Amino acid sequence: MKTHTLLMPLDMHLHLRDGVMLENIAPLTAYSFSGAIIMPNLVPPVCTLKDVKAYKERIMAAVANDFFEPYMTLFYKNYDRAFLEDVAEEITAIKLYPAGITTNSEDGVSSFDIEEMRPTLEAMSELEIPLCVHGETDGFVMDREAEFMSVYELLATSFPKLKIIMEHITTKAAVDMLDKFENLHATITVHHLLLTLDDVIGGMMMPHNFCKPIAKRPEDLDALLSIALEAHPKVMFGSDSAPHPRDKKESCGCAAGVFTAPIALQLLCEIFEQYDKLDNLQSFISDNAQNIYGICPEFKEVRLQKREFVIPDTYSGVVPLYAGKTINWAIQDIE
Ligand code: NCD
Ligand code: ZN
Repeated sequence: MKTHTLLMPLDMHLHLRDGVMLENIAPLTAYSFSGAIIMPNLVPPVCTLKDVKAYKERIMAAVANDFFEPYMTLFYKNYDRAFLEDVAEEITAIKLYPAGITTNSEDGVSSFDIEEMRPTLEAMSELEIPLCVHGETDGFVMDREAEFMSVYELLATSFPKLKIIMEHITTKAAVDMLDKFENLHATITVHHLLLTLDDVIGGMMMPHNFCKPIAKRPEDLDALLSIALEAHPKVMFGSDSAPHPRDKKESCGCAAGVFTAPIALQLLCEIFEQYDKLDNLQSFISDNAQNIYGICPEFKEVRLQKREFVIPDTYSGVVPLYAGKTINWAIQDIE
């Protein structure tokens, strides 16, 4: 049987939620990943040192696995330098959401006034805290990410030492930004390497393929595939796996978020093999992230086997991407 081994897989954009959802979902990632950047968009968001420490403890209790590292983040506000100095050791990044643009982002930034943000972003640069950004405007849904490129440009040029991560990019416009500014990096999800808008609303409406930012055009998909498959050094895997209970997805007013955590590695093997690029998957899934973030996860080896695997209908009541579909790669049990 054909196998493929990945070392220290990292998920650089993950929603784990809280409470029972956290307890059910976190072990699925901890099983096959070495670590993950944990998104702070809880209700209320993670904004204090106490919140970060307590959330990390709840995650560690839920995963009960010493070989998984939650890389914690704070929800962006205009924090002062003294606070950032205090919290720097406990966090890996700060995540900025435009207000109201996605799930639980109501307390985000409502205007990108660079002078108002300067003290925080300068302190982050000096303390080497990366800024992760949900890059969408409140414009027309298909144009939101492309419209945000001017904000990325402003941030990248105003704070040239600040490491900026364009999260879950979905457009050729974002791909084209990567090589323009040294301090811009990006994460890409697995679903954005598979879906276009047609898979969301082209036939019957598919709530489990619906997320923010929404999947775009075939040419955008091609641009994303080209940099992921070549494992462009400024690009990392970030699943943006965003679990919602089934009734919040299959409802009038469907919540945004695609759940992929337990099937991401298998799907990535399938995609990279299809394009004869399996040798580049290691860089995309871990090495690039280690270089960009300067992190060094504990050793973990995950072996995938080329055999049929039927994606479960649900994981603890959360419906994954491609539920019920047979794919060609599976994870071998990890000892
Ligand atoms: C995310 C969520 O549900 O928290 N939803 C999504 O569609 N991706 C938030 C986010 O990352 O936008
Ligand atoms: Zn997200």
